[in-house]
Amino acid sequence: MRIIRAKDYDDMSRIAANIIAAQITLKPDSVLGLATGGTPVGTYKELIKKYNEGVLDFSEVRSVNLDEYKGLPKENAQSYDYFMKVNLFNHVNIKEENCYIPNGMAEDDDAECHRYDEILERFPRDLQLLGLGLNGHIGFNEPNDHFSKGTNLIQLTQSTIEANSRFFDSYEAIPKYAFTMGIKSIMQARKILLCVSGKHKAPILRDLIHGPITPQVPASILQLHNDVIIVADEDALSLM
Ligand code: F6R
Repeated sequence: MRIIRAKDYDDMSRIAANIIAAQITLKPDSVLGLATGGTPVGTYKELIKKYNEGVLDFSEVRSVNLDEYKGLPKENAQSYDYFMKVNLFNHVNIKEENCYIPNGMAEDDDAECHRYDEILERFPRDLQLLGLGLNGHIGFNEPNDHFSKGTNLIQLTQSTIEANSRFFDSYEAIPKYAFTMGIKSIMQARKILLCVSGKHKAPILRDLIHGPITPQVPASILQLHNDVIIVADEDALSLM
C-alpha cells in the first residue's frame, strides 16, 4: 500500500489525475474502473483539462463504473449514468459504446448482476478508482458479515442514505438500493487508486490502513491487494 500525502482536495485531485493520465499514456486502451460521488469530481476536472490541452486521448479507453442506484433512469440528474456524462464523458473523446454502468432500471435484478459480471470478465480493469464511504464502503459494498463477490443489489445503510441526502431534494427521493460491483471484482483490478479527502474521513481511513481486515470495514480488504495507491489529503490523514 503506497500512501501519497496531498495538501488538500485540489492537490489530491491533481495527483490522482496524473496517475490516471500516466495509465492512459502507457496503455491507450486501458480499462478504467470509475467512481462517482464528491471525491472524484476534481480528478475528472483535471483529466478534462489535460484532454483539452491535447495531452490525453480517451478514444481507446473503456470505463466500467462501480455502481448505480436502483430505480433511477439514466436521464435522472442524480443517476450515476448522468453524473458520469456531466462530470467526464461529455467533455472527452471517450466512445459512448465503451462506457459501462449497471442499469438502474433493470427489471430482473439477478439478470442485471449477471450481465454486469460478464462485462467485468470481458474487460479486466487496469486501474480501479475508488472513493471511501464514511462507514468503510467501497462501491456500495456496505459493512456486512462477509465480503461480496460479484455484482450485487445492496440495501444502502442509514449512514450512506444520510451521506447521499445532500444530492436529493427530499428523503423520499433518495434511493435505498443500488447495484454495485462486488468486493472480489474490485480486488481483481490490476491497480487500485483510492482517493480520500476531509477530516470526516480520517477515522475510517485509519481503520482501513491499520485496523483488522474485516467485512465490517469493507475497504480494509485493500490491505491484501498488491498494488494500491492511496492519495489522501492532510485532513484525511490527520489521525495517522
Ligand atoms: C461511488 C461509490 C462510493 C463513493 C463513497 C464516497 O461510485 O462507489 O463508494 O465513493 O460513497 O463518496 P464521496 O466521494 O461522495 O464522499
